Amino acid sequence: ANIAHFPKVSTSPKDDLIYQKDGGLVVKGDKIIALGEYAAIKAAYPDAVTIDYSNKLIVPGLIDGHVHFPQTEMIASYGEQLLTWLEQYTFPTECKFSSFDYCQKMADIFLSQLVANGTTTALAFSTVHSHSADALFAAASKRNMAMITGKVCMDRHCPNELSDSAESAVSDSEALIKKWHGLGRNLYAITPRFAPTSTDAQLNALGELAADYPDVFIQTHLSENLEEIEWVKQLFPARKSYLDVYAHFGLLRKRAVFGHCVHMTDDDWQSLADAGATAAFCPSSNLFLGSGFFDKANADKFNVNIALASDVGAGTSFNLLRTYGEAYKISQINGAPIDALNGLYMMTQGAAAALDLEADIGNLNPNSFADFVVLDPHFNDLSTLRIDANAECADILFALSILGDERCIKQTYIAGVAQLGTTNSHKESVNA
Ligand code: GUN
Ligand code: FE
Repeated sequence: ANIAHFPKVSTSPKDDLIYQKDGGLVVKGDKIIALGEYAAIKAAYPDAVTIDYSNKLIVPGLIDGHVHFPQTEMIASYGEQLLTWLEQYTFPTECKFSSFDYCQKMADIFLSQLVANGTTTALAFSTVHSHSADALFAAASKRNMAMITGKVCMDRHCPNELSDSAESAVSDSEALIKKWHGLGRNLYAITPRFAPTSTDAQLNALGELAADYPDVFIQTHLSENLEEIEWVKQLFPARKSYLDVYAHFGLLRKRAVFGHCVHMTDDDWQSLADAGATAAFCPSSNLFLGSGFFDKANADKFNVNIALASDVGAGTSFNLLRTYGEAYKISQINGAPIDALNGLYMMTQGAAAALDLEADIGNLNPNSFADFVVLDPHFNDLSTLRIDANAECADILFALSILGDERCIKQTYIAGVAQLGTTNSHKESVNA
C-alpha cells in the first residue's frame, strides 16, 4: 500500500509527513513493529502473512476529539440552534438512556458507525446515567479500542430525569474512574456538560475531583453560540469570561478538551495555550446549528492544541475526512484555507498530541498501537475520474474529504484486528 503518517509531533505537518509509496506495515499482536519500503519489509519479515492493499492509502486510525454517543439516533434533526435544539431534541433522546439495555444497544451502533468511518479513538460524552459510560467502555473493550468517555454531569437547567447533584456527580464520576480509567485501553473524562447546566457547587466539586486525578481527561463545551455566551454571563457575573468559569473552578488544564471555541477572544486563546488545553474544532456542527466559524488561523497564532471533531448529533457526519472537508470550506470563508495535510494532522497525530496520547496512537511508529485505516481512493466512478493513479497524498486526501463517505474506508484496524466486513482477525502479523 501507499502509507502516510506524521512520525513526529510538530506544528509543520507538511514537512513532517512521511509518504511511502509501495510501502509495507508490519503488525505483531496489537502493535506496529515496522514500516518502510515494501521490498525491504518483505525481505526483513519473510514469514509474515501478507495482505495486499496495492493502490490503497494507509493512514493512522482517525481520532474524533468531541462526539456524543447517545446522540447517534438524533443526527440531522431540523431547525433549531443550540439552546432550543438541546431542549427539543437532545434532552428527550438522552432520557432514553435510563435503560441499560438501551445504552448497550446504542453503544454497539455508535462503535459500528465509528469504525465504518475509520475512527479508532473518540473522546465521547455519555449521558448523565453512569451505566451509559459503563456500556460504552464495555463495548469498546470488546474491540480493544482506546475509548475516552465519562458520564455527563448536570444539576440545573435540564429535565429532572437528567439531573444529578454536586455530590452524586463526584461520587459517580469517581467510581467510574476507579472502575475504568486505565483498564485495558479505556480512559476516563470528567464531563460537566457545559457551564449553564452546572451549579457553582457542582463545578467546584468536579474541579476538586480533577485535582485528585491529574491524568484523567476533562471534556465540556465552550463559547459555541452567542445566546449561550450571554446566558453564561448572567449566570456567572463574577467571572471575566466563559472560559474563566472553567479556569476558576479548576477545570482548565492539560488533557482538558473544550468543544467548539467559536467565539473566542485573544485572551481566551492565550489561556487555552498557557494551560496546554485543547480546542475541539467541530465544523459540521458549527454550521448545522448556525453557531459560527472557528478561527483556526488565530488558534494557530496562539499555538493552541486542536483536535478535529464530528460532534454528532449536532455534527452531520461521523466521517472525519468529510469533517475536514467542512473545515476547509469554513477556512475558505475565513480567507485562510486549511490544506489536507493539516486536515490529516488534526485527525491523527495532532489530535493524539493534543490529548497527550501520541506515544500510543495517531501515528504508525513502531511500538504504537496498530490502529490504522485503509482508504480506497477509487471507491466510486467520480473519485476514480478525479484521482489518477499518480496522485500525491495531499491531493488524494483532499478529494476524498469532499467526495468521500464510508465507501472509501476499505478497512479499519484496531489493535491489529480488522473491524469491517468478514470476521478476519489478523492477529499474527499484517503487512501491506
Ligand atoms: N452544549 C451543551 N450540550 C451540548 C451538546 O450536546 N451538543 C452541542 N453541540 N453543544 C452543547
Ligand atoms: Fe458537543
